[in-house]
Amino acid sequence: MSTPASVTFDYLIHAAAHELPEADQALLQAAHDAALRAYARYSNFQVGAALRMRDGRVVTGSNQENASYPAGTCAERTALHAAMSQDPDGIGDTMAIVVPSVTGERPVTPCGICRQALLEQEIRQQGAPLRLLMAVPNGPVYEVRRASHLLPLAFDASFLKG
Ligand code: THU
Repeated sequence: MSTPASVTFDYLIHAAAHELPEADQALLQAAHDAALRAYARYSNFQVGAALRMRDGRVVTGSNQENASYPAGTCAERTALHAAMSQDPDGIGDTMAIVVPSVTGERPVTPCGICRQALLEQEIRQQGAPLRLLMAVPNGPVYEVRRASHLLPLAFDASFLKG
């Protein structure tokens, strides 16, 4: 017997950043600024992330590349892990992700490894949602209510229990 199954999630497409609250606009600007501090000499693809914690603190990150390509890290994990190593009990509220060089209608969305790391963070903060804002500069902003929506049927610690 085969049982059909599906996973869906809702997200918002804002036509422009100015439709968002000011705090979110500032977070997107912080992500844009962070991208300009990327070390992206191999891909020349600068990515910035800005994570606002529940207490209002903002921690930014950018991609940091390496001549041994897999040793590089993405902007999202740079910001997330910096924030959590400074405050291990911190609760992430919203992460903004911006690639200044991207144009068009589709913002850059996190890679698979970063989705896994962001999912882990939601588990770490007892399921409190980590919202994502992904923007094309001067273009649309995608809003995802919780990071784990981007990783259906994910691997998590429950599998490790054997
Ligand atoms: N990158 C990020 O920092 N975040 C993403 O969401 C996608 C990819 C980085 C990794 C690498 O330094 C460069 O962008 C090209 O893949």
